[in-house]
Amino acid sequence: MQKMTSDAKMGNTEEVEEEVPTQAWPPKGYYTGDESLDAPVQATHVDAAAAKKMCADIGYFHDPWLQHIVPLHMCNRRLSPMMHRGYFTRVQAMRRSAEMFIRKSNPNMPVQIVNLGAGLDSLFFYVKENIKDWGRDMNDFTQFELDFPIIIAKKTRTMVRKKDVLGLKLLQGGVSALGSLGGIDENAEWTMAEEPKQVSEEALKKNFENGIAINSIHQVRQLCTEHLRFVGCDMRRPDELTRLLLEAGFNQRANTLFISECVMIYMQSSHADGIIKTANEICVEPSALTAFCTYEQCNPNTAFGRQMVHNIRLRGCPLLGIEDYPTQESHQQRYKTLGWKSASSLDMNGVYDEKIPLEEKQRITKLELLDELEEFRLIQEHYFVLVASNQESTEGLF
Ligand SMILES: C[S@@+](CC[C@H](N)C(=O)[O-])C[C@H]1O[C@@H](n2cnc3c(N)ncnc32)[C@H](O)[C@@H]1O
Repeated sequence: MQKMTSDAKMGNTEEVEEEVPTQAWPPKGYYTGDESLDAPVQATHVDAAAAKKMCADIGYFHDPWLQHIVPLHMCNRRLSPMMHRGYFTRVQAMRRSAEMFIRKSNPNMPVQIVNLGAGLDSLFFYVKENIKDWGRDMNDFTQFELDFPIIIAKKTRTMVRKKDVLGLKLLQGGVSALGSLGGIDENAEWTMAEEPKQVSEEALKKNFENGIAINSIHQVRQLCTEHLRFVGCDMRRPDELTRLLLEAGFNQRANTLFISECVMIYMQSSHADGIIKTANEICVEPSALTAFCTYEQCNPNTAFGRQMVHNIRLRGCPLLGIEDYPTQESHQQRYKTLGWKSASSLDMNGVYDEKIPLEEKQRITKLELLDELEEFRLIQEHYFVLVASNQESTEGLF
């Protein structure tokens, strides 16, 4: 059996000696509805945010925002250069997909990004800083960040406290209040600037004060600013996902990019299928550009892949979706079967080699010495980025 270093296990701190079981665990059909089972997967947002913050501190990429979003006590662990380079490639990939999408969007319609399982991610601020260079304007842009209600409630608290330094303008009244007061009209068109005419002042105050909307299902407080909206939901429930997204002001006729960065692989594939299908169906305007960008693990059947699956499972958040869709090809087919017209993908070696400018690579290789190049490339073979689109081709989207 292959023995791995702690880094190769992507975040585990102990060597693991057990035999790798051949059968996936938990078995298919695993979902008891017991919320406490979700705690380990919810905790993964801390690893991701702390690692990205550390990379920003070292200088891998510009991110002056995470220092305000990620609590300091979470950021006390320096990872290895190999891990940092992995996160660098991942962040560059997601930023690139946002940029390419916005550049290619239909200029006659607004642009939205829906960050599925956003954790403490800071992509919104990166877009805000650069959107003009990509040919669009913040007036045309809204981002929705979805995560479990408990994560959204926590992030809302932080963002409200840091709103000035982060430049967030909290909305006083807005579409979110409508849904939280009386349910939604499934056929209604929800526009960003719509005045909540049918809601009494009193009710509005109670439900929607100081840029915070009350989630109509989970009753948590969620941030509602002009261009950034939070949505606390369990995305495994497509009806809940649709309803809460619409309540937050999602525009079904806008250019829309869905991003899922290391999220859906933690679910049973039937639940992730539901998200991929819902994302496709909720966007109803064929002339608007719609795309889905996913980053996650693959190749569970190599020696390294088996060990990766095993180690992550030991952390209590198994990669529930990896056996049903083990390869990039199976993922491409998956998106097409679930309604997307085109899909293409690249493993993270491909992303590093082909999509990151040479000067950037030269710059970051000077930051830290990386001896384990072979190991780095082996790990990167087990992660990929996929882009699916409502157009005949994904060309120009990644
Ligand atoms: C590994 S973290 C990634 C966070 C962020 N995308 C990033 O890359 O920084 C996975 C995130 O997905 C969220 N998540 C997983 N399953 C979810 C579900 N069923 N509903 C809502 N959020 C979920 C977790 O709470 C967690 O914040």
